[in-house]
Amino acid sequence: EGILKDGVNFSVTLPQQTTDIATFDLNKESSTVSITVVGASGDLAKKKIFPALFALYYEGCLPKHFTVFGYARSKMTDAELRTMVSKTLTCRIDKRENCDEKMDQFLERCFYHPGQYDSEENFLELDKKLKVHEGGRVANRLFYLSIPPNIFIDAVKCASTSASSANGWTRVIVEKPFGRDSESSAALTRSLKQYLDEDQIFRIDHYLGKELVENLSVLRFSNLIFEPLWSRQYIRNVQFIFAEDFGTEGRGGYFDNYGIIRDIMQNHLLQILALFAMETPVSLDAEDIRNEKVKVLRSMRPLRLDDVVTGQYKSHTRGGVKYPAYTDDKTVPNDSLTPTFAAAALFIDNARWDGVPFLMKAGKALHDRRAEIRVQFRHVPGNLYNKNFGTDLDLATNELVIRVQPDEAIYLKINNKVPGLGMRLDRSNLNLLYAARYSKEIPDAYERLLLDAIEGERRLFIRSDELDAAWSLFTPVLKQLEEKKIVPEYYPYGSRGPVGSHYLAARYNVRWG
Ligand code: NDP
Ligand code: BG6
Repeated sequence: EGILKDGVNFSVTLPQQTTDIATFDLNKESSTVSITVVGASGDLAKKKIFPALFALYYEGCLPKHFTVFGYARSKMTDAELRTMVSKTLTCRIDKRENCDEKMDQFLERCFYHPGQYDSEENFLELDKKLKVHEGGRVANRLFYLSIPPNIFIDAVKCASTSASSANGWTRVIVEKPFGRDSESSAALTRSLKQYLDEDQIFRIDHYLGKELVENLSVLRFSNLIFEPLWSRQYIRNVQFIFAEDFGTEGRGGYFDNYGIIRDIMQNHLLQILALFAMETPVSLDAEDIRNEKVKVLRSMRPLRLDDVVTGQYKSHTRGGVKYPAYTDDKTVPNDSLTPTFAAAALFIDNARWDGVPFLMKAGKALHDRRAEIRVQFRHVPGNLYNKNFGTDLDLATNELVIRVQPDEAIYLKINNKVPGLGMRLDRSNLNLLYAARYSKEIPDAYERLLLDAIEGERRLFIRSDELDAAWSLFTPVLKQLEEKKIVPEYYPYGSRGPVGSHYLAARYNVRWG
């Protein structure tokens, strides 16, 4: 591509799919895509899936011929589904524009079929309706399982036996949780594979669809300056932080069965860690990337109980407002020990990362909402300025921060001379703030992932061996926490979380960013 001038866009073509889709033009007059949202009456469907589909439609990313079907047990007509969906559609992409017309066009393509998740007969009825809309074209079918995990298999069985495509592809997006531990996850995979091939299964981790997570590989592998520093030689520790400033809010029933380690760490944070720490893949092909992720996950030491701190939020009154405790949720038992906060120290036993602590921290009902990666570099050997000016060693080290959300940004903390006649240093940021640099709205993670599933791009979906490796790291410690009934450290709603996380970090000479 030659020399890239500042501010000039250039694009990279990702490798051709090795699947049927490569030769399959989705915009062909003779083909169509039917997207069925199973569990269409639910929270995720309303909040994320329908709005993402609309955004893709608005951007012209959906194929020429497509229909969206909602499927759930609730009784609803097509018109009622459209009313329900219309409430959560927004003109997110161009706020100045009135997108009513586009919304109406999109809603006209949305239909509903009520049915049980374990009824082949109901799925056959759906199949008949889909066929009518497909109008004899090559029919590609995508099922999005937006339902609780205990009914995944029933729905997959019925969809694959009664409603799979006769002449195109059939793909199924499966939402987390993918089991509760190694055994249940393996059982889920075995059951799914009774009805689907691995390449039909799209296990979604929506953090992989976030802009800055996707950018991680670009940052590492397309800039000369980062990759040489990306090892134990220069990096002192890496932190993966997830914080929410609200509690489990309406999802207590689900959450209490899983807890923060399964809800956030074993998937979202570990996936980011794998992309951060993997070796350079052979190519950008999905299998090459996933091979490298599996390798790095397999090089990790299973997490030890000593290296975990858990917490649970308790009620707190601030400014006359009483914020609830986790156990105030009516769907959560009063004596629940489920962690709503956890901090952990993980290690990768390979040549690149030997001895470097990878710290994770995830919590609900904390004082702020953010997701970020912090890379703390080592001290400058024999740093002249430390000697001469007594700079605090810890403050003087470089730090690279990748802020996934909110206010997406990448910034590098450097030491700089404060302008003036004297010699005083301060810490300044080289700051790439997305909102200042790019005018275009950042797509929601679900948009990217839905589009990838339609296009057959598997790079951002989890392969079963990755999932096995991820569970192997966390299953032993989860079992110990539960068998030993470890009591979480209570922290007030809206605080910075348990102080134990600071002791854990200090044990490895780390200060949380
Ligand atoms: P909901 O609890 O809202 O369930 C979705 C739909 O499934 C409901 O509308 C209901 O439809 C049906 N359903 C619910 N419980 C049962 C049951 N016990 N038996 C049979 N059907 C049931 O789930 P969400 O929409 O919140 O989540 C869907 C999936 O996505 C889950 O696997 C969840 O873990 C995952 N997820 C959700 C996120 C979120 O923010 N909500 C975030 C990340 C993942 P009906 O009664 O009409 O059949
Ligand atoms: C989900 C978790 O996977 O991610 C939720 O189940 C969490 O507990 C959510 O709130 C966070 O996603 P986001 O995109 O809002 O940061």
